[in-house]
Amino acid sequence: MKLEINGRSVEASPGDTIYVAAKRAGIAIPALCTSDHLAPFGSCRMCLCEVDGQHGTPASCTTPVREGMVVHTESERVRRLRKHLVELYLSEQPSGDRVPEPLHRLAHALDLGHVRYTQPATRVDTVDRSNPFFIFDNAVCISCARCVRACDEIQGTHALTMLHRGFGSRPTAGGSALIGESAGFASSNCVSCGACVKECPTGALIEKTVIEEGEPLHAVRTTCAYCGVGCSFEAG
Ligand code: FES
Repeated sequence: MKLEINGRSVEASPGDTIYVAAKRAGIAIPALCTSDHLAPFGSCRMCLCEVDGQHGTPASCTTPVREGMVVHTESERVRRLRKHLVELYLSEQPSGDRVPEPLHRLAHALDLGHVRYTQPATRVDTVDRSNPFFIFDNAVCISCARCVRACDEIQGTHALTMLHRGFGSRPTAGGSALIGESAGFASSNCVSCGACVKECPTGALIEKTVIEEGEPLHAVRTTCAYCGVGCSFEAG
């Protein structure tokens, strides 16, 4: 089928999302929570777009294509809303050089020089260092749930879940119901496969070797980053 994205005619297959069709055609749409390895989820809203004749600004990563659809991903309205989203994300992030690189890049691309909201709800600054291979730094997490979905959909371990809602939402391992008192990765059924680390878009989950030596633990890409058996899975 054919649709139009940003004035360009694009070929797509039934079942494709707008995001997938655009990516295949070389049209980049900003995105944080979507991944080639995971089912569409639509939590970050960064990929929002306008569709002629359709109300609202749907997420392109969860919206299926239709024949003849006319989509705008860089309209003035979309860019304004995206800029507000980045501003909201930044308002609950630590400042300075701890701002996650993807948010930094988006802020720059959208010409966002100033965050109007004065730290209304900075994320709880807890760091889980209990896993031998990686840490989880809640302060730079954006609660996109890619880690939780990677643990479920790629590894099938179900070690992670999301706690709470709104400003308090965050991934956790170990099943604690109390914010700031997660039982931690070490006491969960995490098998240290590294799928969550590979999927994290902000570096909230990061290998200890990257922090200490600036390099990931393994150059080899496998299903389980730390076991070395070599089952094929390429994270990106
Ligand atoms: Fe589409 Fe996050 S990338 S909602």
